[in-house]
Amino acid sequence: MRLLVTGGAGFIGSNYVRRRLTNHPDDTVVVLDKLTYAGRRENLRELAEERLEFVEGDISDQAVVAGAIAGCDAVVNFAAESHVDRSIESPGEFINTDVFGAFVLLEAARDAGIRHLQVSTDEVYGSIEDGSFTESSPLEPSSPYSASKAGGDLIVRAFHHTYGSDTLICRSSNNYGPYQHPEKLIPLCVLNALAGDPLPVYGDGMQVRNWLYVEDNCAAIDAVLERGEAGEVYNVGGSDELPNIEVVRTILELAGRDESLIEHVSDRPGHDRRYSLASAKVQSLGWKAEVGFAAGIERTVGWYRDNASWWEPIRSGEYREYYERQYGRALG
Ligand code: NAD
Ligand code: DAU
Repeated sequence: MRLLVTGGAGFIGSNYVRRRLTNHPDDTVVVLDKLTYAGRRENLRELAEERLEFVEGDISDQAVVAGAIAGCDAVVNFAAESHVDRSIESPGEFINTDVFGAFVLLEAARDAGIRHLQVSTDEVYGSIEDGSFTESSPLEPSSPYSASKAGGDLIVRAFHHTYGSDTLICRSSNNYGPYQHPEKLIPLCVLNALAGDPLPVYGDGMQVRNWLYVEDNCAAIDAVLERGEAGEVYNVGGSDELPNIEVVRTILELAGRDESLIEHVSDRPGHDRRYSLASAKVQSLGWKAEVGFAAGIERTVGWYRDNASWWEPIRSGEYREYYERQYGRALG
């Protein structure tokens, strides 16, 4: 198979490309990535160069997409602006990429007559007090990020319904693991703990997320790409639902730091209280989450500890300015 992976230089996309090239020795992967602040060639290091083509470009650029998709058998779309806090600060780019870009890519897949898998999020359902979202729960997104992802999902749905396009949607819960940008809770706290900086916890820290180790999500995406039914949506939830404060405490323990580093800061505007996904449908394709939180977070802290050469350039670049704007203090 020749697979187009958009956003393949980001966190989940690069883990997925690594898995694909390892598990499918006859596959070729074309990565199309704009290399925003979140995307890095470095994330694809040490991968089989003869089976990996890299195209730097924007999924909302029709000509670039037409070139990258030529000869491909399927497309998996990871490309997105992905951080909720940045969407609150500046929503425009989220609409450009997550809505319009998703449409341009979908149209190219339709022209090529190939399968299109949209990587989406549990955040499109909004927040849930009790129980879990199923694939038929209504879309009630809360943030500019989740609204733009919901917009992408609805266009995908419309293309299947109207044109019979061979589409799939995977909606996953919070991923964590190697190569995640430190703007997100887990890597931010791991790096701050290693450096002895305060760990900023929004509000009371009792918001609940359904943590999913990134390799489990990549396995689910493969299961859906290979065995999913056209036009369907698949929820992909992790096995552990944890309040943020518990996640932060676990990181401090693994990093050998005490709880005096925890700093409760102003809450995120419109903050969703709890996410929870029912994943029976993707499990019926033979998938299940293999890595529990205790094992996954230990691996993750170990990876960041051992890969300072990966994150040091990030902590000294654009992220420093973002951090100051977001948290009102300099990184230590
Ligand atoms: P990320 O921010 O780490 O990576 C996004 C990648 O997309 C980057 O490489 C970036 O350069 C690229 N990109 C951005 N705009 C682009 C454009 N216009 N054209 C081409 N490339 C572009 O994100 P991630 O955490 O790896 O998330 C990947 C996908 O998974 C996103 O669609 C996100 O909505 C979804 N998702 C993420 C999570 C999570 O917990 N991280 C959970 C559920 C769903
Ligand atoms: O649920 C899936 C989503 O998970 C994905 O669609 C998004 O792309 C991804 O960014 C993630 O969104 P969250 O907003 O849940 O992730 P984040 O890591 O930003 O925050 C996780 C929780 O931690 C959330 O309740 C906010 C809180 N938080 C976050 C940061 C960055 C803090 O308390 N302090 C922080 O500094």
